[in-house]
Amino acid sequence: MKLIDLFEKRPKRRKYWDGKYKIPWDEPGFSKRMLREHLTQDHNRASRRLEIIDQHVEWIHSEVLGSKPSRILDLGCGPGFYTRKLAALGHKCVGVDFGPASIDYAVRYAPRDGSCTYTLGDIRTEEYGDGFDLIMMIFGEFNAFSKNEAETIVTKAHASLRPGGQLLVEAHTFETVRRIGMTPGSWYRASAGLFSDKPHICLIENVWDEKARVAASEFVVIDATTSEVERYRNTLQAYTSDEYASMLKSAGFSQVELAPVWGKDELGPNDEFVMLRANRD
Ligand SMILES: C[S@@+](CC[C@H](N)C(=O)[O-])C[C@H]1O[C@@H](n2cnc3c(N)ncnc32)[C@H](O)[C@@H]1O
Repeated sequence: MKLIDLFEKRPKRRKYWDGKYKIPWDEPGFSKRMLREHLTQDHNRASRRLEIIDQHVEWIHSEVLGSKPSRILDLGCGPGFYTRKLAALGHKCVGVDFGPASIDYAVRYAPRDGSCTYTLGDIRTEEYGDGFDLIMMIFGEFNAFSKNEAETIVTKAHASLRPGGQLLVEAHTFETVRRIGMTPGSWYRASAGLFSDKPHICLIENVWDEKARVAASEFVVIDATTSEVERYRNTLQAYTSDEYASMLKSAGFSQVELAPVWGKDELGPNDEFVMLRANRD
């Protein structure tokens, strides 16, 4: 692709959910570069820093699970940071992710006692199994699915919990998604990074579609040597609190709560995330 194609191939209407709306976590080269982003302790982007994850795991263990040994399914588990630490506290964990480099890493560093198992799979289509005490999805990926896909995921999760089991989804607040969509365009240059191992320039454009309640980001990556262009997109669906609650109820959950994340006292206006908590009857 050349820069001029950005003008010629611009769609009149954006089709957010046509399969090209998601950054390609599952593409092997991309997944390898993304693993570097998960592992670095320089920022909190792909995964949080390990010291923060330690605090989250302690909260899940004591506040969510009451320190009782439990069976846990982590949807979009990345390199297995949460599962590995939860297993060290006595839980049995299953992680699913479609990033091959992340799953390779998770398997390589899994405890030898078999307390963590990992599957390379797409959580939209993968069988989850059953009898889980807790199913969790951490760090906002939930909003990167279309409404239909998100409904499928929570419906499958409901069926895979034991009666009394809990669902924990860390999702973006409506305002955060809107803010991402309204963020002005920007650019950076890098000798290597998430989008390329070679020197490149990355142009970022964000759009907020008020009607669809979608934030769409486009990353145009220009190879500094050849001027070849690659385009990536990421889309986030915004939901109000009522919409989150009604989706979970439609999936079969009766007790639904939208709580501040990670045991904070109150949900503040600038909080990026909200914790969707629900129980299976
Ligand atoms: C923001 S990262 C969070 C990783 C992990 N939960 C954490 O907090 O460290 C989102 C993860 O979701 C995974 N993911 C995205 N879409 C997926 C899908 N359709 N099926 C399985 N995994 C998916 C990505 O590969 C990535 O590892």
